[in-house]
Amino acid sequence: MEGKSRSRRGCCCWFLVIIILAIVVGAVVYTIKKKTSHSGDSASSPGPPGSLNKKYADSLKVAMQFFDVQKSGKLVNNKISWRGDSALKDGSQARLDLSKGMYDAGDHMKFGFPMAFTATVLSWAILEYGDQMDAVNQLQPAQDSLKWITDYLVNAHPSENVLYIQVGDPEADHKCWDRPEAMTEKRPLTQVNTSVPGTEVAAETAAAMASASLVFKKTDPTYSSTLLKHAKQLFTFANKYRGSYSESIPEVQTYYNSTGYGDELLWAASWLYHATEDKSYIEYVRDNGESYAKFGSPTWFSWDNKLAGTQVLLSRLTFFKAKDIPNSGDLQSYKETAEAVMCGLLPDSPTATKSRTENGLIWVSEWNALQHAQCDGESFTSSDLRDFAKSQADYVLGKNPMKMSFLVGYGDEYPEYVHHRGASIPADAKTDCSDGFKWLDSSDPNPNVATGALVGGTIPK
Ligand SMILES: *[C@@H]1O[C@H](CO)[C@@H](O)[C@H](O)[C@H]1NC(C)=O
Ligand SMILES: *[C@@H]1O[C@H](CO)[C@@H](O)[C@H](O)[C@H]1NC(C)=O
Repeated sequence: MEGKSRSRRGCCCWFLVIIILAIVVGAVVYTIKKKTSHSGDSASSPGPPGSLNKKYADSLKVAMQFFDVQKSGKLVNNKISWRGDSALKDGSQARLDLSKGMYDAGDHMKFGFPMAFTATVLSWAILEYGDQMDAVNQLQPAQDSLKWITDYLVNAHPSENVLYIQVGDPEADHKCWDRPEAMTEKRPLTQVNTSVPGTEVAAETAAAMASASLVFKKTDPTYSSTLLKHAKQLFTFANKYRGSYSESIPEVQTYYNSTGYGDELLWAASWLYHATEDKSYIEYVRDNGESYAKFGSPTWFSWDNKLAGTQVLLSRLTFFKAKDIPNSGDLQSYKETAEAVMCGLLPDSPTATKSRTENGLIWVSEWNALQHAQCDGESFTSSDLRDFAKSQADYVLGKNPMKMSFLVGYGDEYPEYVHHRGASIPADAKTDCSDGFKWLDSSDPNPNVATGALVGGTIPK
């Protein structure tokens, strides 16, 4: 049914924001060794990043508001005029408070797998760029949004081997077009447990909790240690009761199908090492690398595949923490594969992926097999990576053939027909589940601005 493709499309908006953050993260933590100086104008992005750029500061503020647009539960300091409290009883049938968390894209589902990934990447962005965010007053909003998700995840993990991974029934949800504040659909819960395992979703949730524990370590040590406790338990659960949630709960395949859990296990262990410095997690990534890391085959970082993120995260250790890690050379294969990912992204690299539009936007369709990528002897600096990341951000913000910002609410011209229930229905409309579709079908621009949403789907060349 329509709803499926809608949901898919919607989710792209949600995650592109994050992916851009991720590219920037990658660009900053990573420096490819320089053999021949490649970049003629490395002065264009002197590193390390320091000075504030108004364009990116403004777009960050816009992008951050999307988290507020998506919040479920009893809102605190709500600044989005057309949003209000919703889903207050989520989780009540299991005597849990699952009211918080965020809705997926334009619908009212709460999908634990992508939501946890969002939290992990938001944590990462805060850990790398917290000071920059703070300089433009975005650190507090970022931490608040992160906590809105981790509060939900903590409650969704009521005992060691039980994790609630979904609130809502996508079939029922997609038959309605209503505001979250007015929804009347049933809100069934789905869990994974020892008999119905979900390794990837449990491991991703562990990664979210472990990374967030680092974010809150100084400002809220009690909360931080609570998160870490959940992270460790979830990792053990994920690792011990192995099975893909896509196999144990086939219904999830229609929405956020997982193509495997090996990447999430390595990713979670990497975050747990950063959060605990417990060497057993390093042994874990070392021992399981051959099975799961796909060394030598670069992949795109996404909600389904975290290998590239894992490689960058572990490369970080070889750069900055090598002396603390016995045999850190064993992490070399992760670092080499991370380099191959960067080489694929850089447009002037001999191993650059062909998956980009004529105007240079990376376009993820299918990854070309880049088997022996080390930029083939050519080398690039961190400035090249940062320039590349900027080119992608600039494209999204308006430097494209349509001269249009693809970030809703940013610039003079941005999309006004967003597939988003709350944005499409006037806040004072008295519509219910099914007669709300007239708002979806309306030929007028959205009455409310889904600030911070990003265009997904096909982007013209
Ligand atoms: C385990 O999870 C499945 C799928 O969500 C559920 O049907 C089952 O009742 C759960 N098992 C227990 C013991 O609660
Ligand atoms: C989900 O992923 C698995 C593993 O890659 C694949 O076999 C299956 O066909 C996918 N399901 C859907 C509905 O795409």
